[in-house]
Amino acid sequence: QRDHVGIIDRYRKYLPVTEKTPVVTLHEGNTPLIYAGNLSKQLGLNLYFKYEGLNPTGSFKDRGMVMAVAKAVEEGNTTIMCASTGNTSASAAAYAARAGLNCIVLIPSGKIAMGKLAQAIIYGAKIVSIDGNFDQALSIAREITAKEPITLVNSVNPYRIEGQKTSAFEICDTLGKAPHILAIPVGNAGNITSYWKGFKEYREAEKIEQLPRMFGFQAAGSAPLVHGNVVENPETVATAIRIGNPASKEGALRAIKESNGQVDSVTDEEILRAQQLLASSEGIFCEPASAASLAGVIKKRKAEQIEEEATVVCVLTGNGLKDPDIVLNSLEFTSQTIPATYDAVLSLIKK
Ligand code: F0G
Repeated sequence: QRDHVGIIDRYRKYLPVTEKTPVVTLHEGNTPLIYAGNLSKQLGLNLYFKYEGLNPTGSFKDRGMVMAVAKAVEEGNTTIMCASTGNTSASAAAYAARAGLNCIVLIPSGKIAMGKLAQAIIYGAKIVSIDGNFDQALSIAREITAKEPITLVNSVNPYRIEGQKTSAFEICDTLGKAPHILAIPVGNAGNITSYWKGFKEYREAEKIEQLPRMFGFQAAGSAPLVHGNVVENPETVATAIRIGNPASKEGALRAIKESNGQVDSVTDEEILRAQQLLASSEGIFCEPASAASLAGVIKKRKAEQIEEEATVVCVLTGNGLKDPDIVLNSLEFTSQTIPATYDAVLSLIKK
């Protein structure tokens, strides 16, 4: 009955699992690759969205977290810890609950979306809110876990990268090949590193012939890879990628270089416009950070840096429901309350 449920079972032979690795799962992975008919026509592309927001805690982090938690259990550890802009903490908290571990999450005060905070709370994590940003939180978490018997489950944990590469496998399994371009938002840079590893391993295994070009997109106010230096005070409405000193910088730069890819930035305005465009033209609601992938593709297509009819996959890293405030606060929506009568409703909708 449990056959091929979750990424550990499904991609076992590509993952560092042993007979001793417990099969932890919340049925993560196997997310849809959605063809975007309307946007494909509009942009002159063959455009797909890998909707990672449909993972158990609503983001791609679950693929890496299930591996990190399974290995922590295998190694006999009882407490995990992470720094997070929100999604990692939600995922760590859920998988810790599932595996019976303690979980400590370090978050930047006031800069994480409400849905993500609610998740960490309900799954029972110990939440430590600091007066600082993600980069500072990660630095503290690294120091503490180096000295205490606590497992760090940020993407500097190699098992996180291993688990997350399975999304690249799924894309290839569905398309029967790699896309021409993989567009992905970049924050701490673990995920782009994972995808590139996944594509390369699939080519090694002769599952695909051609590798994709990797296009990474950062928010303009938090774009250390674009500028080539650390951003001390990163800012963006896309709080998930509000990161100034990505831990996996080397992996990201290697992916971009080896794949003949690109790294670029998109403004908050472009991000929010892309988020709305995706929702209103395809019926897919992603969080702002995720929309950076589409915003980037639109920018590159306009600049003619993406060929017409290219097959492009945009990774939608997180679910829009995690951050409803962004929509309610930034989009114009005025609802007028009227009398509860047939006539009042009809006259309003006919206006
Ligand atoms: N998109 C979303 C929705 C994210 O939550 C993150 C990272 C990224 C993109 C960027 O991925 O860091 O691998 O380059 N969120 C982390 C967190 C930092 O704490 O949840 P990356």
